[in-house]
Amino acid sequence: MALILVVDDEAGIREMIRAVLVGDGHEVVTAKGGEEAVGLIAGDTPDLVLTDLAMPGMSGVELLRHLSENHPDVPSIVITAYGSKESAVEAMRHGAVNYLEKPFDVEEMRLHVRRALRHRSLTDENRELRTRLAVERDLVGRNPAIDAVRELIARIAPTDSTVLITGESGTGKEVVARAIHRASPRADQPFVGINCAAIPAELLESEMFGHERGAFTGADLSRRGLVETAHGGTLFLDEIGDMPMAMQVKLLRFLQERRIRRVGGNREIPVDVRVLTATHQDLPELVQAGRFREDLYYRIHVIEVRMPPLRERREDIPEFVRCFAGRHAARMGRGEPVIDPAFFEALASYDWPGNIRELENVIERAVALAPGDRLTADTLPAEVLAAARGPVAPVEIPAGFDLEVHLDEERRRYMEAALALTEGVQKRAAELLGMTFRSFRYFAKKFGLTTGRTADQDSAGATAAGPPRGASGEE
Ligand SMILES: Nc1ncnc2c1ncn2[C@@H]1O[C@H](COP(=O)(O)OP(=O)(O)OP(=O)(O)O)[C@@H](O)[C@H]1O
Ligand SMILES: [Mg+2]
Repeated sequence: MALILVVDDEAGIREMIRAVLVGDGHEVVTAKGGEEAVGLIAGDTPDLVLTDLAMPGMSGVELLRHLSENHPDVPSIVITAYGSKESAVEAMRHGAVNYLEKPFDVEEMRLHVRRALRHRSLTDENRELRTRLAVERDLVGRNPAIDAVRELIARIAPTDSTVLITGESGTGKEVVARAIHRASPRADQPFVGINCAAIPAELLESEMFGHERGAFTGADLSRRGLVETAHGGTLFLDEIGDMPMAMQVKLLRFLQERRIRRVGGNREIPVDVRVLTATHQDLPELVQAGRFREDLYYRIHVIEVRMPPLRERREDIPEFVRCFAGRHAARMGRGEPVIDPAFFEALASYDWPGNIRELENVIERAVALAPGDRLTADTLPAEVLAAARGPVAPVEIPAGFDLEVHLDEERRRYMEAALALTEGVQKRAAELLGMTFRSFRYFAKKFGLTTGRTADQDSAGATAAGPPRGASGEE
């Protein structure tokens, strides 16, 4: 059952259509002309509009234009007089999905209505699906806090509410802003970001609101600002905590009136944007310190999305590692990376003061440094490795200590372990330990580690037949 609006100045036609559609189980409202229809649409958005084209007062085409501007997802079918194909074509250009020529057949009308309604429910479903997919794809992580963020985004994306995104540096605030935009009905319109901390205070106003010709020396041409550029789409005010007080007043005025005035101009230009803001600073604290306007804070703090720091979502690190490693390997023309467990472990125990951004940089560097597709712990920066190892135990030197003997013992332990892991294949054991095959063989002989394999069998690789052998000294 759908709500269908029928618009025609002829009572006979209106009533005939109503009777048929009500008989099919739809709810039908009727209007005598365009103006009345607009009023009805404002009250309750219909699922479909059937409208005559030639009507006294507001015409069918004008009604279509109103619909496509205000309710672009509501399909419409136009009813035209016999032989007026041109007006039907014009109506289709204004968004009508189909037309019926008078006098029309009831079955033909039913068919058009069914089709248009199916089209409508498909676009609804697609939009929902797209929203969910977009959010899934953009936000990596399974931590409960991230799940909650994902849910919140899906809920607020379809609205025009102002959102404040908070979180430490590098936690994904911009990723969230873009996800909200992509999941919103404004997705096909521009997303315009302004970094309030990066633009010098004296330029911020003209960057944001534009300027008229001659507004200041050097303003030879008038120029649209970023706010105007975002018209119809989303405006992302990043690092809003760094916005100078003088600009805060102007922003507040814009948020209240939704009009801008270019620098040096006196025209008021209406702008339709959805405003998202982000900051890594504590805004209530800035308000206390008199560095952020309280009224502006309440304006932008309608809905808050908090991004947790990486140290509170360590369980997501492996997924980030795989995602970033894959992304950067592909970018560098490498194959799918193979990641060592030790690589994961070192990353999972580090504190990540720079959060996800830092993690991504570290992985990009590791992919670049890795000789092949394998990511090993030794491609990680020293500070990450040091933190993973924990504080270094103070060195103690017992009486009668012999460093060579000690190192040989350690070497032997590692070589035995490597041989056990590689089922006795010396070449691979050497690789695992980062030793040359030559020096591995030398020490294996020295320690009496034999695997019962010849160098020939070794070069045949790990597929060589034979039971796994321990790497003990016996022959
Ligand atoms: N959930 C996520 N999924 C995938 N990548 C992410 C995610 N969160 C952050 N990133 C990546 O981490 C980096 C930092 O994210 P972003 O720029 O959004 O952080 P930010 O909070 O805006 O940081 P800053 O305060 O430094 O501006 C980006 O390279 C982004 O691609
Ligand atoms: Mg940012």
